[in-house]
This record gives sequence, C-alpha cells and structure tokens, in this order.
Amino acid sequence: MDCNTGIFEEIRSLIQARNSKKAYVRSFGCQLNVSDGEKIKGLLKQSGYDFTEDENDADLIILNTCAVRENAEDRVFGIVGSMKSLKELRPELIIGISGCMTAQEHIAEKIKSSYPQVSFVLGTSALNALPALLLEALKGAKYSEDRREYDDFSQVCEQIRESTFKASVPIMYGCNNFCTYCIVPYVRGRERSRKAEDIIAEVTQLASDGYKEIMLLGQNVNSYGNDLSDGLSFPQLLRRLNDIEGDFVIRFMSSHPKDASRELLDAILECDKVAKHLHLPVQSGSNDVLERMNRRYTVEKYLETVDYLREREPSFSFTTDLIVGFPNESDEDFEATLELIKRVKYDNIYSFIYSKRTGTKASVMEDKISDDVKSRRMRRLLEVQREISTEHYKRFVGEKMRVLVDGESKKREGYLTGKSNEFIIAEFAGDSSLVGSFVEIEVTEAKNWAVIGKIID
Ligand code: SAM
Ligand code: SF4
Ligand code: F3S
Repeated sequence: MDCNTGIFEEIRSLIQARNSKKAYVRSFGCQLNVSDGEKIKGLLKQSGYDFTEDENDADLIILNTCAVRENAEDRVFGIVGSMKSLKELRPELIIGISGCMTAQEHIAEKIKSSYPQVSFVLGTSALNALPALLLEALKGAKYSEDRREYDDFSQVCEQIRESTFKASVPIMYGCNNFCTYCIVPYVRGRERSRKAEDIIAEVTQLASDGYKEIMLLGQNVNSYGNDLSDGLSFPQLLRRLNDIEGDFVIRFMSSHPKDASRELLDAILECDKVAKHLHLPVQSGSNDVLERMNRRYTVEKYLETVDYLREREPSFSFTTDLIVGFPNESDEDFEATLELIKRVKYDNIYSFIYSKRTGTKASVMEDKISDDVKSRRMRRLLEVQREISTEHYKRFVGEKMRVLVDGESKKREGYLTGKSNEFIIAEFAGDSSLVGSFVEIEVTEAKNWAVIGKIID
C-alpha cells in the first residue's frame, strides 16, 4: 500500500537539511505492542530515519506504551519526566508517545498538561497518522495528537522486524471479553480480524525469507474470524498455515480457555509445524474468583482441555498467566490456585499482583486484602512454581530436543540459549554461527529455569 508518500518526502527533506535523522523507539508491554513498534519503525524508515539504541543520541524518541498495570504506566511517566532535561538541552528533540496509555482520556490529558516536553500523542488505532504528526512537530508545533480509530489501522506499509528469524504476525486486534480487571478492551477496542488471505500471504513470505518461528498474535486468537462473514476459523487458519512450505514452527498467543474448542486442540495435535505448547491463561484456581473476573469458565472445564491434550501428547507443555490478590481473594482462593498449578504442572507461569485500572468493573470492587498479604502470596506462588518446573523439566533428561537457537548465553561464555518446541529454555555449548537455526540437543540436566544439554551432531 502506498500511503503517506507526499508526507514522507517532506519529512525526509526537513530532517536531511537539519541532519537530525536518528530515532529511538522503545516498546513496552505485550508482543502486540512490540509488533506495533516494528510498524512505527517501518514508517520512520520510510520517512528517512535511521535508528539508535541510545536515547541520548536521538533526534526523535517514541515511547510505545502499555497500560495493563499501574507500574507499567508509572515507569513511562518516570522516563518521560527524566527526558525534560534532555529536551531543555536540545529543544529540537521530538518526543512522541504512542500505545495503550494514550487511549485513556485522563492519561492523554495528563501528558498534554504536565509534560510539555512531549510533542505528540498517537492513538493505538492511528499508526498511519504518525508521519502527519511528525511533520507538524518538525514544522514547530508544540503539541499535537491523533487518537482517532481509523478503519485501516493495521495497513502499515513496512515493518522493521526486531529479529531475522522470529516473526510476530498479528491476526486480530482488540478484545470483546471484558474481564473485570482488564483495561485492554478499553484501550484496544473491539475485536477486528485480519483477512485470512493477508495472513497467509504474510506467513508465506516470512517462510520463504527463512523465518524459523512465526508467532500469531491476538488477545484471544480463539475468536479469530468471528467478525468476518466469509473468513476461516482459527483452527482452519492454523491448518492452512501448516501447509505452507518451509521449516518453521508456528506458535500463537493468547488463547482464552472458554473458547479452546476440540477443533482447535485437534488442529494443534495434528499440525506438525504447530508447537506442542499452549499458553492458556487461567488467572486463578478458584471458581469464585474466576466468576468475579468474568472469565466464563470453571477450573473443571479448564482441566478438561489440559487433560485432553496430555492424554494424547504426554509431554505437552502449558504455560499460563495468574493474577494474585484480585479484590477479596481469600486464603482458600489462593490455596486453590496453588493446587491448580500443582495439578497442571505448568512449564512456566507469568504471575502479576492485581493492579486497579480506572474504568474497569473490578476497580470499584471492595478489597480488604493488604499489600503485604498480596506480596506474600506472590512469593509463595513463585516458590511452588520453581519446584514444579525443576521436577517437570526432568521429563526431558536423556531425551532429544529440537531447539531454535536464540542467541549467546548471558550466563556462560561459549554457550548458546534457545527455545524448544515446548517453549522451554535450553542452554548448551555451541558456536554463535548457529543463532537463528534449529539444532538437535540431548538434555543432560534440568534446572528450574531451563534444561541443559549438548548438541548432537
Ligand atoms: N488476552 C490475554 C488473556 O486473556 O489472557 C492476556 C492479555 S493481558 C495483556 C496479559 C495478562 O496481564 C493477563 O493474562 C493478566 O494475567 C494480566 N493482567 C491484565 N490486567 C491486569 C491487572 N489489572 N492487574 C494485574 N494483572 C493484569
Ligand atoms: Fe484482557 Fe480478558 Fe481481553 Fe485478555 S481476554 S485482553 S485478560 S479482557
Ligand atoms: Fe499493555 Fe496494551 Fe498489550 S495494555 S499488555 S500493551 S495490549
């Protein structure tokens, strides 16, 4: 798509004349936001920018923000605050804020009124408006914003991918679920699925470019296609992607347990390119808490999904998200969560202390649990999970494992790290030339954070 062409040219000549072509883009939050950050970089590249990893060296700074928890927002405000002196030192510096924080009226208002160092604010569905905002700032505008919801929000011309062998492919945007604690439906809008043919074309191109891991993204990929009259369902899409030629692994996240159909589970089991791993966020092991969270499944129903996959593929891997300290979570509720993680034996959990989000239903629920209790529960949860991981990873000792090499180990010189099909971290001795390729290892040891192995020739 040839969008913004005239504006790109104008920006290019302005920044060339001023020799101010270095951009720093930092994305916070989930992989969907990181993917938006890659599109932002694509638009900047077309506008003539080069990239720097050092914000102090940048002529343009874009912070692509997350609003899912209060500490994520505080962090961004801290960073923007500290950039005030940078802007005072170099008044020509342009600072822009994009991402989920900007979709909240009170936050956009706060940025505008309290952070004069910010030149523009870009809404989550308005990525294509970036060049226009940038041009205004380059022409001297003190502040501008575009937070409208455009229909063509996802049609960004180019993308600068972070990796040359792992690619994220958003298949849908937004969320319809309104879990009572969650801000995402308010900042990302309702579900909009991309056309299957566009997704298939993108993955085909990535596979032929040599990408080894394709991560399909959506807040609930299981409801992919529900908003398209003639589209494919998610399991059908998975089967179509599995037929694309090439040696690559297909992953996806997140999958809402209420929509994990038999059709989907069979597609995962039957498609050889689809990883035998499911990220299935459970949030709590208590049916009472799940109901108050509006999750619309029970622990029993959730376990049916786990058992179905494990009966057919015993080493099938599960990971999950958990919230500790949801309003009035009792000791019994928390114990039920511990019981659940022991029962499922997750390979990894992503756990968060509940954070009150303005505008959500849970934000007005009574909460008598102290911060101290919440922190104690969090520590206990992580302790129990550490034991589970170490024990559970032992199932791979003595086995062969196919691993996509991610990079060099930060812990041990001469060692590489990678991810197995089951999404487990593996560490093994090897040469850095192997980064980005698949290797076969034999697992020799299980730690609580990874398996250790050696490459088999
Ligand atoms: N759509 C995904 C799903 O349904 O599981 C997850 C999206 S959300 C960006 C990622 C995780 O953040 C959630 O699974 C939940 O555990 C956590 N989360 C969301 N809102 C939260 C809040 N208010 N406080 C703490 N954790 C939260
Ligand atoms: Fe948030 Fe629930 Fe939607 Fe996930 S499914 S993004 S947790 S509202
Ligand atoms: Fe955060 Fe927005 Fe993702 S709130 S988790 S960046 S969808």
